[in-house]
Amino acid sequence: MSPSIKTSKDFKRTTVTAALPYANGGLHIGHIAGAYLPADTYVRYLRMKNHDVIFVCGSDEHGAAITLRAKKEGITPKEIIDKYDTLIKNSFADFGIDFDIYHRTSSELHKETAQDFFTSLYEKDIFSKQTNEQFYDEKFEQFLADRYIIGTCPNCQNDNAFGDQCEKCGSTLSPTELINPKSALSGQKPVLKSTSHWFLPLQNYEKWLREWILDSKKDEWRAGVYGQCKSWIEQGLHERSMTRDLDWGVPVPLSKEEGAEGKVLYVWLDAPIGYVSATKQWAKNTNNDWKKYWLKQENEADDSRLIHFIGKDNIVFHCLIFPIILKAHGDYILPENVPANNFLNLEGDKISTSREWAVWLNEYVKEFPTKKDELRYVLTSIAPETKDSEFTWAIFQSRINNELVDTLGNFVNRTVVLINKYYKGEVPNINLSTAKDLTDFDKEVLEGIKIQTEKVSQNLEKFNFRDGLFEVMELARLGNKYLATTEPWKLQKTEPQRVEQIMKISAELTANLAILMRPFLPTTSDKIANMLNLENDLKWDLAGNLDLLESNNGKINKATLLFEKIEDELVESQIKKLDDNKARKLKEIKEQKEENAQTNPIAEIQSEIQFEDFSKIDIRVATIKNAEPIKKADKLLKITLEVGEQEVTVASGIAEHFSPEEIIGKQVCWLANLAPRKMRGVVSQGMILLAENEKGKLVFVSPEKMVNTGAQVK
Ligand code: MF3
Ligand code: ZN
Repeated sequence: MSPSIKTSKDFKRTTVTAALPYANGGLHIGHIAGAYLPADTYVRYLRMKNHDVIFVCGSDEHGAAITLRAKKEGITPKEIIDKYDTLIKNSFADFGIDFDIYHRTSSELHKETAQDFFTSLYEKDIFSKQTNEQFYDEKFEQFLADRYIIGTCPNCQNDNAFGDQCEKCGSTLSPTELINPKSALSGQKPVLKSTSHWFLPLQNYEKWLREWILDSKKDEWRAGVYGQCKSWIEQGLHERSMTRDLDWGVPVPLSKEEGAEGKVLYVWLDAPIGYVSATKQWAKNTNNDWKKYWLKQENEADDSRLIHFIGKDNIVFHCLIFPIILKAHGDYILPENVPANNFLNLEGDKISTSREWAVWLNEYVKEFPTKKDELRYVLTSIAPETKDSEFTWAIFQSRINNELVDTLGNFVNRTVVLINKYYKGEVPNINLSTAKDLTDFDKEVLEGIKIQTEKVSQNLEKFNFRDGLFEVMELARLGNKYLATTEPWKLQKTEPQRVEQIMKISAELTANLAILMRPFLPTTSDKIANMLNLENDLKWDLAGNLDLLESNNGKINKATLLFEKIEDELVESQIKKLDDNKARKLKEIKEQKEENAQTNPIAEIQSEIQFEDFSKIDIRVATIKNAEPIKKADKLLKITLEVGEQEVTVASGIAEHFSPEEIIGKQVCWLANLAPRKMRGVVSQGMILLAENEKGKLVFVSPEKMVNTGAQVK
């Protein structure tokens, strides 16, 4: 490993966080593969190394996603978070993601911690306070985003223009320009009210971010993470409001006179501080000192190392905004690495909660209570570390059957069975380091144990879990090949001494496997350790040794089954379940639409056209490759579309509906032959098609299944 890249040895302590899940839905395999499984694997590795590590997580219980859902279902936010916090916490526990604490951002301790943080930044004069007039819905008692205001366009008299844009004549508007503005929530006339917010001037930290990330993290951070940071920084950073007019969240800890009434902290300020409050709660519970894990120590060498495990949609918050907040505070350490993963697709489509296209963790652990390591194995083997990847039930089946059953299970089973059969369970007592009469193959295998130990360690240190697990399996493959080639069962009668060597070597290899696989497959490692009578608290530094079995006089136990084959029926029934869920969900959505159509009659249909008119329109399927804000245009996003081999740029007025990071990777429909138009300095080619839902939120018009980009919509 290059000397400039630090490893766990260079630190006294490590603070590991995994993204706080929103408490408004369950966990699916995409979440697990994205953040929780790699984090858990890494922490298990550090614990085996006796490294001082804490692993914190919890529910993210504030934010608009939760209030909107509550409004929709006619229940309180509290009812939602209580339900999902319990569900999520139990799923993690059942699956064996081993946090030191799973906390909640609705707790009192979190509120205090987040408020203290805000106050400290406020007292340091970090924020700029800005007051603007904004439309307010008196019935819903809330300020309205521009899109939630509808009225008549001053330019073309269209009655359904939005507060940000008239879609009929294309003009960009501000809500106050609308004639007869109405709230999309209540339908009533909104009133203008002035409101103040506290903004964090991200742009003031640009120079520092360039030094801290661009100049120093290139070799250490994943290319995708580094690249996203670079593109954000080069885009130009802007002020971001750290407060919101909402009644759900951590109240802004300032007085009424200062205009703080009815305001809460922005959820992306509040949530990451949840890592700190979780650590505080853990420290209280266990009589530890939280400060060691978060605050800069007197001596820099005593600082804890902070690692955030997240999905790629969270990169900007963990690599830029939260670090700026920590830096502005001044007392806190900064993340050393943020090994973010890309997305996991499922059976050819994006995982989607709303379309029920997902494998839910709570259902998996209920249906397959004895197959946790199997899922860990498959998800790590296909981990989306460098690009998006895909889970299918057929891959699940083939990985388990070919690799876990045929290679790993087969090798361990043969070894344990033969030692029981030939030696009543006593591993032959041979000193492999001094043995003289070993064959070249024997030596290659013994060398292989050492080489694989080194490779697995290096990959874990570099957060390359997929490669790390591959190298564990390489050792199992080597063992399997060793037994298949030497065929001790044919030699037992004629060359019993040779067989003793083979079995001793196989047994030591098995013991090493138990150690190396332990961070990845903890249950399987336990089972092997039990068969071999190894102590249960296996330490990482034992790996590479060739005398692991000498402690109990080499007495081992009977073989137990490690894995069983996955039958075709299981694959078929899981795919059917997905299809059924999807069909049910589509039906629900259709019924909901019909219901809405009765209550909200659709807008008047345009005058009749002929087919020739329609055929002039060229609509294509395209994938959003990149999206970024446009300077001085709050409503526009500059979007790069992939269409076949080409890339095109479109300026789209959706910035208030979507953040750039949440739309990257989506397939959309694109009006290809619309004359190009220059908007705020960007030449926009064509237009992305959108529809509006009953809440006035824009949604993309997307193909029902992924298709090749460039495909024509006819
Ligand atoms: N709840 C967020 C999400 O699911 C993640 C929050 S991570 C934290 O995307 F930094 F805010 F904690
Ligand atoms: Zn208009």
